[in-house]
Amino acid sequence: MSKKIAFVTGGTGGLGTPICRSLADQGFTVVAGYNSGGKHEKALAWQEEQRKDGYEIMVAYGDVTDAESCVKCIASVEEQTGGTVDVLVNNAGITRDGQFKKMSWEQWDEVMSANLDSMFHMTRVVINGMLDKGWGRVINISSVNAQKGQFGQCNYSAAKAGIHGFTKALAQEVARKGVTVNTVSPGYIKTAMVAAIAQDIQDKITATIPVGRFGTPEEIGRLVAFVADEQSGYITGADLSMNGGLHMS
Ligand code: CAA
Repeated sequence: MSKKIAFVTGGTGGLGTPICRSLADQGFTVVAGYNSGGKHEKALAWQEEQRKDGYEIMVAYGDVTDAESCVKCIASVEEQTGGTVDVLVNNAGITRDGQFKKMSWEQWDEVMSANLDSMFHMTRVVINGMLDKGWGRVINISSVNAQKGQFGQCNYSAAKAGIHGFTKALAQEVARKGVTVNTVSPGYIKTAMVAAIAQDIQDKITATIPVGRFGTPEEIGRLVAFVADEQSGYITGADLSMNGGLHMS
C-alpha cells in the first residue's frame, strides 16, 4: 500500500518542523509548505538540514493568503508525490501584536488573512480529494489565546477563535465520508514567535503557567501526529489543548 501524504503549511517553521518530523516518524510521506517571502534557497537549506537528521521531506512554495497560490502549491505537492493530500495541517500563521486602541487596519488584515482566510484557501483545494477517497485528516493549528483572549492580540485571538468555528462546521459536513477535522490549540511554545515577546513579558507569562515553563515544539508535533493517525478516526470537531495548564476548559 502506498504511503499516505501529509502536507503542512508553514512546515519549515518553528512548529512546522517538528510536526513534519513527527508525521514522517509515523510513516507519512511529508511535504512542507513554505513562504519565506519567496526565498526558495532558505527552504532548500531547511530540507538539507532535515536530510542530515535522516528525514526526507519535500517542500512546496505557497502563499496561504492567496487562493490562486494555494492551488499552485497543491499542484506542486501532487506532482512531487504522485498522489493527493491525505492529511492537511493548516499551521502557517503570524502575529502582529498591539493594543487594540493603537491597532492599524494592516495589523488586523494581515493576521486575519494569514491565520483565517488561509484555512479556506488551502482546505478548499484538498477537501474533494479526501472525500473522493473516503479518508482524510484536516488539522488546524489555533492557540490558547483563541480560548482565553490575550492583551495585545484582538486580531490574533479573533482569527484563531474563528479557526475553531471553521473546524466544527466542516467536521459536520465531512464526517460521514471518513474525513476528520480538528483544532490543536498550543499554549506558549518555544518558537521564534514567542521569543519575539519582550523578555519581561515572557517572564510574567511563564509565571502564570501551572507547569512552570513554555512548551516544546516537539510536544505539539506529537499531538498533531496522534490526531493524524489511522486509529484517531473517532476524534472530530474537537479542540485539543496543550498549554501547560495556562487555560483549562
Ligand atoms: N493586562 C492588563 N494590562 C496590561 C497587560 C495585561 N496582560 N499587559 C500590559 N498591560 C498594561 C501595562 O501595564 C501598561 O499600563 P500603563 O500604561 O498603565 O503602564 C499598558 O498596558 C501598556 O503595556 P505595554 O507596555 O505592554 O504596551 P505596549 O504597547 O508597549 O505593548 C504589547 C503591547 C506589544 C501587546 C505587549 O504587551 C506584548 O507583547 N504583550 C504580549 C502579547 C502576547 O502574549 N503575544 C503572544 C505572542 S505568541 C503567540 O501568539 C503564540 C500563541 O499562540 C500563544
